[in-house]
Amino acid sequence: MEKYEIKSEVCIFQDDELSAEDRELVELAKEATKSSYSPYSKFQVGAALRLADGTVVTGSNQENASYPLGLCAERTAIFHAQHMYPDQPIVALAIAAYANGHYYPEPISPCGACRQVMLEVEDRYQHSMRVLLYGAGGTHVVATVKDLLPFQFISESLKK
Ligand code: THU
Repeated sequence: MEKYEIKSEVCIFQDDELSAEDRELVELAKEATKSSYSPYSKFQVGAALRLADGTVVTGSNQENASYPLGLCAERTAIFHAQHMYPDQPIVALAIAAYANGHYYPEPISPCGACRQVMLEVEDRYQHSMRVLLYGAGGTHVVATVKDLLPFQFISESLKK
């Protein structure tokens, strides 16, 4: 039997420790929660991403009476960015949520489907994407989606 460990690095930044660009991205993710269409879960999620050229694209979760058809904030923002700016790598993505009258205090960790889509973006552009998860106690930051999804299924996986 062999055994190995996989480690992920997460850094927690207070607001005044974030760069101005990252602080802006987190604020825009919080702002984006306001456009959430979430009458079923009442859980408003916002995402804001920055492209390599500095452009920011935002998104929010969009639900449906046929529950599984809803789309998370992360994918709403990512697919819109890739539609509008297909040549631009996504270098950072911030996520925040609002529920029960306040910003959700715990960092929102993207769902598995969103992690897989985020991984595809890193693979497509061969560029890491920093992920910033807003929380009341600080913003949790990982340097790459691989820290959120340690075992990866990517284009290369289909070739072996
Ligand atoms: N949701 C997101 O938009 N992003 C996440 O990272 C977690 C969950 C949405 C999906 C659904 O509309 C609501 O939050 C409750 O799960």
